Amino acid sequence: MTAPIAPRLVLIAAISQNRVLAADGKIPWRMPRDTAHFRARAAGHWLLLGRRTFEQMRGWFKPDQVLLVLTKETALSVSGGHARASLAEAVELASAQGVAELLVCGGGSVYQATLPLGDEVILTTVEAEFEGDVFFPELPPEQWRIQTETHFPPDENNPHAMRITHWLRSRNGN
Ligand SMILES: NC(=O)c1ccc[n+]([C@@H]2O[C@H](COP(=O)([O-])OP(=O)(O)OC[C@H]3O[C@@H](n4cnc5c(N)ncnc54)[C@H](OP(=O)(O)O)[C@@H]3O)[C@@H](O)[C@H]2O)c1
Repeated sequence: MTAPIAPRLVLIAAISQNRVLAADGKIPWRMPRDTAHFRARAAGHWLLLGRRTFEQMRGWFKPDQVLLVLTKETALSVSGGHARASLAEAVELASAQGVAELLVCGGGSVYQATLPLGDEVILTTVEAEFEGDVFFPELPPEQWRIQTETHFPPDENNPHAMRITHWLRSRNGN
């Protein structure tokens, strides 16, 4: 019997120019364009979340999504998903279920833990600076390369310019 294949790990996040993810437990900007982008990309996927982000996003998830929540409190009730006590256990469950891609949805501690293993990062940068207390880690330039980058100007619904950058892990110098 062949061993199950580990899913691709794809991190998706929105940050400010100074890499803020959150301030006082909230995302400090309102950008419906990015919310729509996130909803579309996350539809129908297995999502990996830290317990704090899961608590904040309760009610947001759809029945076609499967949640994998990291927490030491593995008795946590996760409607539409599972709680796991470590990243290794979460990846093992996804592998055993034949999941091809695990979408990492934060927060800060989970991005920190998964970036060294990540295959792709989909990063929205809101082109403004914000005060904050949770940050997205730096991408070591020798490990990551830009695949695509798309810029969006501000408009009546989105008060800031933003860009969406797809980063791929560099392999064998490519
Ligand atoms: N801008 C964005 O794109 C974005 C996206 C997502 C979230 N956020 C923001 O990020 C903030 C939350 O980030 P955070 O870093 O404070 O919390 P978090 O990563 O959402 O959750 C932290 C908790 O997850 C569990 N956990 C994390 N890593 C683990 C591991 N390796 N093994 C086992 N359990 C683990 C622990 O839960 P227990 O304490 O239960 O053991 C830990 O206390 C929120 O304010 C949210 O709004 C922003």
